[in-house]
Amino acid sequence: MIILGVESTAHTFGIGVISEKGEILANVKDMFTSKGGLIPDEVVEHHQKVAEVVLEKAFKQGKVSWSDIDFIAYSAGPGLDPALWVGYHKVKAWAKEHGKKLVGVNHCCAHLSIGKMFNKLDDPCYLYVSGVNTQIVVEEDGKYRVMGETLDLGLGNMLDKFGRIVKIGFPAGPEIEKLALKGKYVDLPYVVKGMDVSFSGILTKVEQLLDKGISKEDLCFSMQETCFAMLAEVVERAMAHTGKNELLLVGGVGANKRLCEMLDIMCKERGAKFFKVPMDLAGDQGAMIAWEGYLRQKEFGDVEVRPHWRVDED
Ligand code: ATP
Ligand code: FE2
Repeated sequence: MIILGVESTAHTFGIGVISEKGEILANVKDMFTSKGGLIPDEVVEHHQKVAEVVLEKAFKQGKVSWSDIDFIAYSAGPGLDPALWVGYHKVKAWAKEHGKKLVGVNHCCAHLSIGKMFNKLDDPCYLYVSGVNTQIVVEEDGKYRVMGETLDLGLGNMLDKFGRIVKIGFPAGPEIEKLALKGKYVDLPYVVKGMDVSFSGILTKVEQLLDKGISKEDLCFSMQETCFAMLAEVVERAMAHTGKNELLLVGGVGANKRLCEMLDIMCKERGAKFFKVPMDLAGDQGAMIAWEGYLRQKEFGDVEVRPHWRVDED
């Protein structure tokens, strides 16, 4: 069985091709970037423009054609409404033209399951840190349970907002990571509430410090140290509470080396093992959507779009 997966929840239009054994035959994406953040109309225009080209490249990379594809999985949500609809209309048209079934899947669950498959894990504790999402998740009785999450902004969005303020472009995470290497620590609020975290107060404080003349390098370093320590604390508590001894980091912020280092130290100290996904599977892409589609093919069909679909919802 061969599945085509189409990602279109936010900035990235991606297409992946995967076999039922989890062999990634192709994974091609084209990401919207800008100086001013994620502007809905521009994202829609971007996705419309690149869709056919990305498909063509994916088919070429995977040495497949429509006749090899068993069905189309697509990311139905959660995500940016206009981005979801562009993707949906595209897959709907392809499905009709080539007589394929549609399987709408949850983008967040896809991040978790591609990481689990890639690392051949059995029952990890997941830390999912992307633009919109910051969640600590475990599996219980075949369902996802959110043990803790952000009470306001996702960590990636917080970093991107900072990026917009200091004009380092979008997405800001990679540039912040570079700037942080040249920074030193300044005190920032550390906001952990029970099993949840909050980032908006940190962003406000960072903006105030910027106005006072603290360098962006120092602020990048301090934001990373503070926010990553908050996550490590909550994840450690979740692992202690559930007895899980594998941690899997997924989502775009998972590309950050310092975050990985801190989580790895935390895991080693408690005799647990830390896993991540390779760069090309960490951010948004189509292969994860294809794999999630394979796993959920009997559960979901054409579900249109679900902009607010949570991991712990059916
Ligand atoms: P989701 O819909 O899963 O919430 P998303 O579409 O917002 O996700 P991802 O592609 O998973 O996002 O992640 C994008 C985020 O990752 C952006 O906010 C970006 O700034 C951040 N990011 C990317 N690389 C790094 C890095 N090296 N350090 C920190 N953050 C990073
Ligand atoms: Fe994502």
